Amino acid sequence: MTIFKVTVAKGDGIGPEVVDAALQVLKALEKKDVFSFSLQEIPIGGYAIDLCGEPLPAEALDICQGSDAVLLGAVGGSKWEDKKYAKKPESALLALRKSLGLYANLRPVKLFNELEEASPLKEEIIARGIDLCIVRELTGGIYFGPRGLRNNNQQEEEAYDTELYSRKEIERIGKVAFDLARKRRAIVTSVDKANVLESSRLWRKVMEELAAGYPDVTLNHMYVDNAAMQLIRDPAQFDVIVTSNLFGDILSDQGGTLIGSLGMLPSASMGLNRRGMFEPVHGSAPDIAGKEIANPLGTILSAAMMLRLSLGLEHEAQKIEHAVQRALKNGYRTADIMNDGMQLVGTKAMSEAVIRELN
Ligand code: IPM
Ligand code: MG
Repeated sequence: MTIFKVTVAKGDGIGPEVVDAALQVLKALEKKDVFSFSLQEIPIGGYAIDLCGEPLPAEALDICQGSDAVLLGAVGGSKWEDKKYAKKPESALLALRKSLGLYANLRPVKLFNELEEASPLKEEIIARGIDLCIVRELTGGIYFGPRGLRNNNQQEEEAYDTELYSRKEIERIGKVAFDLARKRRAIVTSVDKANVLESSRLWRKVMEELAAGYPDVTLNHMYVDNAAMQLIRDPAQFDVIVTSNLFGDILSDQGGTLIGSLGMLPSASMGLNRRGMFEPVHGSAPDIAGKEIANPLGTILSAAMMLRLSLGLEHEAQKIEHAVQRALKNGYRTADIMNDGMQLVGTKAMSEAVIRELN
């Protein structure tokens, strides 16, 4: 009997609702005498600030470090918006990524056939298919570079953030992208702004060097502004997109919209070992929190990635993915992906529709 230790960080806004939905699915998967999940909840984000004055209490981090994987909902909300950065909910998420060494953020953007009508793209573009994966660098770049506030010579306020990447940081995220491409359609598109930024020029050079070790993988380079356009004009051209922390943040929201809703988009954050953190991309969505209308599929699909990448349960991961597809095929839709003739359901009812399709 294997017991997997999963840290559960529900966080703020719709975080608790969507995580509860995913936990129901995990519970339904447990196999008596074979494996089960031992869940330990930690406070994080605004919830933790209210509870103990810190967005990421030290004990919470310890618990994450001692577990096999972390399942996270979302952090943030207007209540904590005017806090100083170190005391904001978002800083907990960044601190967690950094402390756990989770430098590789995988965001698979895949359109389910059943959701073609929910995508804002034209039929002829969708017909070519959308199945790409954004590999976002997660512990470097402008999110973590030197920053500050100061007064200039004219005694005006100034603020700065710094995009900073070392060769080592670029190499390791590049390898993740190339290795992933090998298991897919063998195309890597490296997205940068090398026509302007020095950091992007180093990024591009290192990607070129890495490509030499992967003769079976095609490497393309694309400026980020063009990539934003190409994602909408012809997403089928992409297989693996590798990019910096900030560009990956921006492009992945765009990717979510392409597949019908940001609520569908899962993510995995991985480091040097198998312990990863798994979270939906959508964020805390305070406007719909507590209403039981949020789409739990992004979190449920994140749980599937957790089974695959951290717990070695590939078969169970596929079971979840197939069940999600069948629930959609059966016509169940949350409000964000609703279309004529479909059955509108809330968060819990959607996870129940998935659970019914697990076997
Ligand atoms: C994401 C989110 C976070 C990020 C925020 C909440 C700090 O937008 O995971 O995409 O910018 O990384
Ligand atoms: Mg984001």
